[in-house]
Parts: sequence; structure tokens; C-alpha cells
Amino acid sequence: MTLKVYTKATKPFEGQKPGTSGLRKAVKVFQQENYTENFVQCILSAMGGALSGCTLVVGGDGRYFGKEAVDIIIKICAANGVRKVMVGQNSILSTPCVSCVIRKYNTAGGIVLTASHNPGGPNADFGIKFNISNGGPAPDAVTNKIYEISKNIVEYRICPEVHCDISVIGKQEFLVDSRPFTVEVIDSVVDYVEYMKEIFDFRAIKDLLHGAAGQPLKVLINAMHGGHHPDPNLTYAADLVKAMQEGDYGFGAAFDGDGDRNMILGHKAFFVTPSDSVAVIADNTDYIPYFKKNGVKGLARSMPTGCAIDRVAEKKGVEVFEVPTGWKYFGNLMDAGRLSICGEESFGTGSDHIREKDGIWAVLAWLSILAGRNMSVEQVLHSHWETYGRNFFTRYDYENCESDPCNKMMSVLDAMSGDASMVGKQLSHGEKTYTIAKIDNFEYQDPIDGAVAKKQGVRILMSDGSRVVFRLSGTGSSGATVRMYIESYESDSSTYTKDAQEVLKPLVEIALQLSKLSEYTGRQQPTVIT
Ligand code: G6P
Ligand code: ZN
Repeated sequence: MTLKVYTKATKPFEGQKPGTSGLRKAVKVFQQENYTENFVQCILSAMGGALSGCTLVVGGDGRYFGKEAVDIIIKICAANGVRKVMVGQNSILSTPCVSCVIRKYNTAGGIVLTASHNPGGPNADFGIKFNISNGGPAPDAVTNKIYEISKNIVEYRICPEVHCDISVIGKQEFLVDSRPFTVEVIDSVVDYVEYMKEIFDFRAIKDLLHGAAGQPLKVLINAMHGGHHPDPNLTYAADLVKAMQEGDYGFGAAFDGDGDRNMILGHKAFFVTPSDSVAVIADNTDYIPYFKKNGVKGLARSMPTGCAIDRVAEKKGVEVFEVPTGWKYFGNLMDAGRLSICGEESFGTGSDHIREKDGIWAVLAWLSILAGRNMSVEQVLHSHWETYGRNFFTRYDYENCESDPCNKMMSVLDAMSGDASMVGKQLSHGEKTYTIAKIDNFEYQDPIDGAVAKKQGVRILMSDGSRVVFRLSGTGSSGATVRMYIESYESDSSTYTKDAQEVLKPLVEIALQLSKLSEYTGRQQPTVIT
């Protein structure tokens, strides 16, 4: 029996503009009549000629509304000439796994159902993100196209008769408008696990855990989930930090809701700042078979990320790139064979094995390094700082502020970046004085396709290499979140064991004064410090 396709009239919804990482809104917004249907149709329409006959991967972090969204996506794909949809069993695929599956099966792309580190549940957030055929988040050109289409949409196509049981692994075949249409429900982890076994030496990791070379390593993992605020940092993963402080475990890690972010802790909750984590991995690739085989082509970080990885790149004699915040900016460099390992201060670490950041990969990389060097997390960090010096880094978040005053603050900072008289200005707090060497609003031209991204955050660069960065978060679903990033570099080994908060305090105070952040946000304290 051939199933019928219906064309349904609809009206545009405002604000279907994908942010840093897809369209993220309250569940209730997605539940409005036609809201999800519209956005899915816009994604498919934006694929243009690549749509008809293609295969798409669909899955997400299992949060509330995920299964309903899968159902809508399958029905809209069927009606739009998609040949096959590969769905994670019960709708579940981690974000790294979606990327892995897209690449392994050469599909045209995938739709990831997650709001990542935002809380889930009927009164919290949902998200829909489109990934392209390289397995990575759609670049600006694609998301802008989706947004443009969303502003003028008048109808969508749907095949309501396609009923699938996504709890059962295997293929389900349909005939839609006389065309074959397949839904293949796949295991949520098998492809990913196979790939990890190729990348890492599981035997070495197993020996480490079992204590083949000494004491067994006890590991504590918190795979955070949508009921809470699943953001792996010192504030939201406080229970992991507390458990690690008790000292029973030698290694701890937390992941966000969709498994792409990670936080690494050592014995007694020794914190590895993400900017250091990626630098350490880049410096220790000898212990990871994937890099021994493929070599390390280049390194990269997002602009606000601490610059520790730049020093590793310099020593290794490879290129290093500074891109805007957002994993999507790494994709072109990887596709062009110029980037192997990259990371972001926002607890994202990864490599060109896929085109998403990958929390589990980061943990396996760390375990490989601990096994290879027979050291603790803290010892690895100290040895890194002895070689390279230490980039102290901290980030202050002011979450859920009123949008207007925050936008105003950013435009005042932007104006400062155009004001030549700021250069050379001295700013003091206590004993410390910094001199402004440069202020700009970060702009990036993609070296591969020439695309330009403007106003990606105001950078205040000091003459001693210290930096202050201000930007607004692109992942919130309401209000504005201001992020202030502070970094300084020390090569005096007596400072290495100091607390980053203590070392950076004068620069934090200077940055707060310069930006008048408290006045604009009405906040005396950040909501999160990492
Ligand atoms: C997502 C992206 C990351 C990015 C982060 C920034 O997690 O995948 O690549 O670094 O958002 O978030 P923000 O809230 O600072 O815009
Ligand atoms: Zn995530």
C-alpha cells in the first residue's frame, strides 16, 4: 500500500534562527502546533538538490520531547523524498555518535535532538540541530538559509501514515507516494564503540584500570542528564567534585546531556581547565594509536580559550588556528587536512576523528596518556607546566540577565575597540598594573572558504600577553548570558601550584571596572565560575 503525502498550510514563526548550536528553545515552544514541523521542513528545504533520495541520521540525548520530534521528522522526511532515515534506538544517539554514523555511512547529514547542557523536561529546553555530510554542525551559510526559509514558509509536506516502532533494531520499509522509504533503527552505541577501539589502545587502558603496572585506577564518571542542568563544570557537576574530593578515585569525568562536553578531574578533584586539557592531549599524541598512524597536522582553539595549545603547536612546528566560539568553525580546517586536535574553554575537546567535540573520546585520550606515562592527572599537568609555563584561565558567567542592558554593554565595549585612545592605557588593581596593547571585536576569515564571521567577542589584549574577553552566550534559550574570560601567562615555576582565582583576581577586578559589568547586569556575583 502506498502512503499518501499531504501538503499542510502553515505560517512562519518568529525566531527560528539556529544559534551557536542549532535551534534551542523551551519544550513548550516546540510543542506549539506546526512549530517543529515548520523548522524540520526548513532544514530539508535548505538541503536543495541534495535532499531527494538521500539518507539522514536522526537521534538525540533522550530528553523530553525527543521521541515526538523523531516521529515528526520521520513523517516529514518521508514526504520530502528522503530515501532512508537511520534512527538511534528509542531516539538515542549522543552527538559524537551522530557525527560518527553520518561519516561511517556517508549520509547527507543528520538531525540531532538535544539542547546539550541546558536542562530538559516539560518545563525546560529542547533543541534541533542540523549536521551536514561531513558529520559536523551546519556552517553559518546553511543555518542562515534555514532561517531565511523559516521567515517565509507557507506549507510543509508530511506523511502521517508512516508509523514506526523505534524501540526495535532493524529496517522498516514503506511505500510513500509510490517511492520506497526506509527507516532503519540502529543500536545507539555499537558503531561508536567500534570506532573508539580503532582510535585507542583499549588493552593499555584496561591494564591501567586493573592496575597491571601498580595500583588499579579507580574512575568516577558522571554522565549528566536533562533533569538537572547537565553542564560539566565545577558548579553544575558539584556532586562529582565532592565525591572526588573524598579521595577514593584517581580520575573523574563528567559529560553533558548529549555527551560532547567533558570535564576532567584528578585525584581529590584536581581540576583540569579545558584549555589545558586540549594542550596536554596535543602534547601527548604518542600514546594514542590514531595519531601515531595519521600524524598531527595542526591544532586549534576557539578565541576565548586559553592559549596553552598555541605553545604546544609552536614546539611541534605545526599550524595553530584561533576560530570563533562554536565547533562548526573547526570543520573546514579538518576537512582540508589542516587540523587534527582542537578544543574550547567551554568544556569541548576533540579531533578530526569526527566533526563534533567528543566527551568520551577526551576521557579515553586522558586514560591513554595516564597509562602511557604512568603518572597521575596532577603529575601530567605539572610536567606540562614545567615544559611550557602555565596559562592561568578563568571564566565568569552571568546567566539569564536582561537582554537590553547586556547588549548595551557589548556595544559600549565594541565602541572601545574602535577607540585608538584606549591603546596604551594603564589599568591597575592593588599592586598589579596592566597596559592595553590592543582591543578588538574578534573577526575571523575561514582560511578554506573565505567566509567571514564578525563581532565574535571583544578582546582586550594586555602588553604582557594577558587577555580579557567579553561575549554573549549563543546557547541560552532566554535572556542574555554574559561571559567574561580572563587569562594570564606565567613562566615562573613557583606560581604553577597557585590557585587560578587568586592569580587572576587583579585582572578580574580590572575587567569588571572597565566593562561596568555590575551596573549593566545588575549582578554583583557571577552565577558560575570555571
Ligand atoms: C556549544 C557549541 C560549542 C561552543 C559553545 C558555546 O556547546 O557546541 O562549540 O563553544 O556552545 O556556548 P556559548 O553559550 O558560550 O555560546
Ligand atoms: Zn553538548
